[in-house]
Amino acid sequence: MESSKPISLSGIKPTGTAHIGNYFGALKQWVDFQNTDLYDNYYMVVDYHALNFIQNANQMRELTHELVRTFLAIGLDPERSTIFKQSDVPAHTELAWIFDTITTMPYLMRAHAFKDAEAKSAEISVGTFNYPMLMAADILLYDTNVVPVGQDQKQHVEYARDTAEKFNRIFGDTFILPEPKIMPEVAIVPGTDGRKMSKSYGNTIPLFASRDEITEAVMSIVTDSGAARPENVYAIHRLLKTEAELEPLYAANEGKYQALKLALIEDLDVFIAPMRERYEALATNPTAIIDALSAGAEKARARANAKIATVRKAVGVA
Ligand code: TRP
Repeated sequence: MESSKPISLSGIKPTGTAHIGNYFGALKQWVDFQNTDLYDNYYMVVDYHALNFIQNANQMRELTHELVRTFLAIGLDPERSTIFKQSDVPAHTELAWIFDTITTMPYLMRAHAFKDAEAKSAEISVGTFNYPMLMAADILLYDTNVVPVGQDQKQHVEYARDTAEKFNRIFGDTFILPEPKIMPEVAIVPGTDGRKMSKSYGNTIPLFASRDEITEAVMSIVTDSGAARPENVYAIHRLLKTEAELEPLYAANEGKYQALKLALIEDLDVFIAPMRERYEALATNPTAIIDALSAGAEKARARANAKIATVRKAVGVA
């Protein structure tokens, strides 16, 4: 079906069980985009990007499966969004190579992600160094108009724009310049200790947590005794309810941390339950995941292959 809607595309690395920080920081916006019906949406698991650090075949397969299961459980619908994995569309790596040939090393060395990697380790793979060119290929192959990402990915989208401009200058008008769509500041979701929610800090609330797991996580939230309002409880609560909704509850329970935590447990459970049910149902239905990926691969390949054919002509290999 030919669609004239603008294209939205985003990607995420498979990294393990999702927590509510991943959801509010990124995935929720994808579902919202799908449901507003303004865009033709492409959402991918960037397994070739992840290959820079997941170098174990079984783990790669499991994490990819887990991420697609998460996509489906949160409400991404393969009928309405194209859900696929990067490696299923070989044109991504082909285009990344072409971009490598028109990109300079000093330019890639200025990327924040590269500088961070360099600060942490002297041994950086060529794949990590070239990361922005594969990402530029991911985006530009689909004539993407908007890229919904967190603030941390803004520079990468600028790299994609710059690369599109450079290619167009050298080989003629070929690529659309994509716009980043930076997701709102909830992008920093606080964890149970008040720091950014992150697996490496052990302060997460799993997105598909059982009632018991929710209770355990909420009871572990660090509260600052003496404060009228337990800020770390409130910050997580704010993800689920508006200030106006929370105001009376927190006013009525000033200093009563236990009661506020119980209210948060209840609200989290109400919010998580439908996603948890879908997630659990998918455990016995792995074909739903396989089918989503194969349908998505087909749709993504059709679009990407048409584009790469134009690119091949533009550079003169076809
Ligand atoms: N670099 C992104 C991240 O780490 C993932 C990503 C890869 C991506 N390719 C993309 C995001 C294309 C948006 C569009 O989160």
